[in-house]
Amino acid sequence: SSKSASPFDAIPLISDDLDSLRSNIMNLLGAGHPSLDSVAKYYFQAEGKHIRPLIILLMSAATNGTSPIFGHGTTRHEEMDLTGVDEPLSPKSILNDYNPNLSGEVSSASASSSSSVILPTQRRLAEIAEMIHVASLLHDDVIDESALRRGAPSSPSTFGNKLSILGGDFLLGRASVALARLRDNEVVELLATVIANLVEGEVMQMKGVDVGALHGSGLTSFWTPPQDLSAATSQFPGPTPEHFTSYLQKTYLKTASLMAKSARAATILGGHGEGALNQWRASQGAGGISAQEQEEQMVHSARVRDAAYTYGRNLGIAFQLVDDLLDFKSTSVSFGKPSLGADLRLGLATAPVLYAWQEFPGPEERLKEMVERKFEGEGDVERTLLAVHKSQGLARTAEFARHHADEASKALDVIPDSEAKAALQRLVGGVLDRVK
Ligand code: FPP
Ligand code: MG
Ligand code: MG
Repeated sequence: SSKSASPFDAIPLISDDLDSLRSNIMNLLGAGHPSLDSVAKYYFQAEGKHIRPLIILLMSAATNGTSPIFGHGTTRHEEMDLTGVDEPLSPKSILNDYNPNLSGEVSSASASSSSSVILPTQRRLAEIAEMIHVASLLHDDVIDESALRRGAPSSPSTFGNKLSILGGDFLLGRASVALARLRDNEVVELLATVIANLVEGEVMQMKGVDVGALHGSGLTSFWTPPQDLSAATSQFPGPTPEHFTSYLQKTYLKTASLMAKSARAATILGGHGEGALNQWRASQGAGGISAQEQEEQMVHSARVRDAAYTYGRNLGIAFQLVDDLLDFKSTSVSFGKPSLGADLRLGLATAPVLYAWQEFPGPEERLKEMVERKFEGEGDVERTLLAVHKSQGLARTAEFARHHADEASKALDVIPDSEAKAALQRLVGGVLDRVK
């Protein structure tokens, strides 16, 4: 598909950065065996939305320069030991995009005047996040038996299931090497957790969940359960609050976790990490700064990290809600999605169905029955599509996506105004535009 098809075009600030993203990823993915090389690079050949790299690069630009240790990691980075690197992943290909101007000591005074600079480590993080995402897509298209991806034949239909799985594993391996080279344990931990979260979300989607186990998990706090539900006693019970909660938990794990944790990781690489700041306090670096100012910096950086996480989390949930909504619109075919009601065919009761079931719990629509048998009965998919379209399900899903989009915007309040912050706001709008 062409560039103009992307709803995220209106973000010129970092278009150059996105151009280099793909070629850098290609450099990270060179494999000795031609089959492995082809499958690993396959999904990077088509134009993607690159929403995860966008979040990371913009969050970096928006928060850089507000930490006294901004830019310090870069020095360590260029001095690192490069022994044991396999060809053709040469040390040069890993490092050749590093801007030498960013090395050396950066005082907080000079840092604040260059607040829109994106560090090489943050660019690398954007590449790592996209590699993890594409690894999950390679596995996902095997699991979903999906023939199409972004309007073209999927990897499994081109290379087969076995190579697709191995290609995804290879991507995770190379992403891990690049991640380790960032030399920041907080960041490694965050991204490793994301990989586990993606798998947890996928299994939760595949196997369902013991909704009883969700009690007391704190997860219900981000969903206001409908007031009129008396599920246990009603003759025609609607969905329980736990149906919504587990849907949202799955959504967080499978989509929002990567956006949330990599946005947080971007701020850590920008000098807002707790570990690095503690070291700074314990060292000469913080010498001339009063204890109170040091404390204020700690509090400020914690707010920045949390803001980045909250932004990514809410944007991710809004993004997936919109995606789930589009599954019920025939226009989605033009987005390269396989077909109307694809999620239903996979047995998935997403937000539009849960809302429709809540509105029509009665025997005429029989939604409970169909949800429970995963729409596998004769005509279930068609009947559910009709029920969703006569209900407020799509409107309420859009409304709920807007709620999360608003939360994402609000999270940015603690970040100083800048071009990058304005672009992060536009990105929120871009996610919602897909349902306008
Ligand atoms: C796309 O969702 C899939 C995901 C967001 C995550 C899938 C995760 C796994 C398969 C677990 C393995 C993870 C790794 C890191 C190897 P979708 O099927 O709803 O959307 P689609 O329309 O893009 O296929
Ligand atoms: Mg899929
Ligand atoms: Mg899937």
